[in-house]
Amino acid sequence: MKNILETVGNTPIVKLEKIIPPGCGEVFVKLEANNPTGSKKDRMALSMIEGAEKRGDLKEGMSVVEYSGGSTGAGLAFVCAIKGYRFRLITADVFGKEKIGLMRALGADLEVIKSEDGKITKELIGKMIERAEEISVEPDTFFTDQLNNMDVIEGFVPLGDEILQQLNGKVDAICDTVGTAGTLMGIAKSFKNKGVDSKVIALEPASSPILSKGIKGAHNVEGVGLGFIPAIYNSKYVDDVISIEESLARQICKELASKEGIFCGTSSGMNVAGAIKLSKSLGPKSRVVAVACDTGLKYLSEGLFY
Ligand SMILES: Cc1ncc(COP(=O)(O)O)c(C=O)c1O
Repeated sequence: MKNILETVGNTPIVKLEKIIPPGCGEVFVKLEANNPTGSKKDRMALSMIEGAEKRGDLKEGMSVVEYSGGSTGAGLAFVCAIKGYRFRLITADVFGKEKIGLMRALGADLEVIKSEDGKITKELIGKMIERAEEISVEPDTFFTDQLNNMDVIEGFVPLGDEILQQLNGKVDAICDTVGTAGTLMGIAKSFKNKGVDSKVIALEPASSPILSKGIKGAHNVEGVGLGFIPAIYNSKYVDDVISIEESLARQICKELASKEGIFCGTSSGMNVAGAIKLSKSLGPKSRVVAVACDTGLKYLSEGLFY
């Protein structure tokens, strides 16, 4: 019998069959909703907690603190619950009700910060970080600090390894919308370790093109486009940055659900939109991979699907 923590990762990958326009190649989607809390973030949560345990930074009886829009918070709440740590989470009222409910259900102690206008902005993320930093100096507290924690990259290396194993090492391009950049960097590291010469493409919301143009802006794609370049992001491993309209990402989410049976959130729609764009430019013989980061269940109340 497996411990629930051993069920993180090893997610399926599927080929899109219905929504690919003519002239494209193969587009594969890695289904990360199959992780225990419904997102890829279970991988990095486990990696951050076990990394800190190995180094002796996190010990029995301590608390863990983090700020999150939901997916990382749920992953950490889950791992902390299993391992017996108190988990304190700073979040904001711009994120899906379901995500906040999920974190609560998994046992997180929540502080919810009020936004100015319901939008994800650099200022709001700044307030969340500030509050987490305040708590982090309390005794017996470990701050996972997802934006500056290199264990995040290690947590996503197996995601790249799985893709290569599932596709027999043949991948022409991988694209991913950047939040912490952990997923993109983890996959890039995996591909480099294995000597796979695939293009690595960063995606970002068109209304906040910080990576491509240095301009920050507001958007409603949860978990990505933080309005600054994250510390984990290393442009040396990135071949290109592509901006995607949020409206297209939302349209793709609807099509993925109704035509492909892939029920996922807005950032996943942005990833698939990017993969289709790349596939078109690389042509019919190409193979492009996108990550479906989480389940669409978390986005029902915000009206993503109807
Ligand atoms: C739903 C969702 N999609 C995408 C991302 C971005 O992934 P990464 O932080 O690995 O860049 C996140 C990160 O929080 C997220 O929560």
